Amino acid sequence: MRVIPGSHLRQMAFVNTPNEHNLLPRGQTIIDVDESKAVHMNLQPGEFSIHHEAIVHNSDPNNSDDRRIGMSIHYIPTSTRQVKYLEKGRKPLATLPIYGSDLYGDTLKLAQANLRAAGLEEAVQLKQANVLEISAPAATGILVTNPPYGERMGAQQDLAEFYPKFGDALKQKFAGWNCYILSADMNLPKLIKLQVSKRTPLFNGALECRLFEYRIVAGSMRGPKPVQGDAGAQSVKR
Ligand SMILES: C[S@@+](CC[C@H](N)C(=O)[O-])C[C@H]1O[C@@H](n2cnc3c(N)ncnc32)[C@H](O)[C@@H]1O
Repeated sequence: MRVIPGSHLRQMAFVNTPNEHNLLPRGQTIIDVDESKAVHMNLQPGEFSIHHEAIVHNSDPNNSDDRRIGMSIHYIPTSTRQVKYLEKGRKPLATLPIYGSDLYGDTLKLAQANLRAAGLEEAVQLKQANVLEISAPAATGILVTNPPYGERMGAQQDLAEFYPKFGDALKQKFAGWNCYILSADMNLPKLIKLQVSKRTPLFNGALECRLFEYRIVAGSMRGPKPVQGDAGAQSVKR
């Protein structure tokens, strides 16, 4: 097996060239590979190699009398659906509309660069906007956000004013949506005044956070009674 080191870090274009000498079902082939950069992963008998599925790799024909075995392991969330290369006769799923926004253009530029690096520039529509002023782009959907929580930006007083307004905006404009807010501030549920339906512990780097889930239902959930121990990590109910 030989690989092009680092090639798994960016999306590479490939063409389908099915032929009898290519074991891949569609004969997927990367074009314009600089083979002078290839590194061989030489193995001794009984050894095996592991590589990232996106790294450019290939192997010469197996001229031995024994099989060469390759295993491909994919970890995929159950929500994943095939949208390309569907079996003949099956309708493709509609393209999922995805929108992103931030108050500042500089942040959007970073997001745009990240999308480009991931090959997803076309998939997400970005716009500069205040989250307190935007409208829901559909009757139902999923909103995911990592608002300021005082670690790097946002003085506590500003945040104490922002979160109740954010909760109001969600309630007024995002009824029918499931909203997920990543925050290291365990007081967030009190400030936002919406009922948390789920808390998932997560880390943002070294920072312990919760992914708070809010199911926004029209005309409800204003001012819930505080859940005992809401303010601390130990009170998190999974
Ligand atoms: C903690 S940062 C998260 C940035 C980015 N989502 C990330 O995960 O790296 C919070 C972001 O919220 C944005 N923000 C703050 N107040 C906002 C508002 N009222 N409307 C929209 N975005 C806002 C900030 O500009 C900042 O980019």
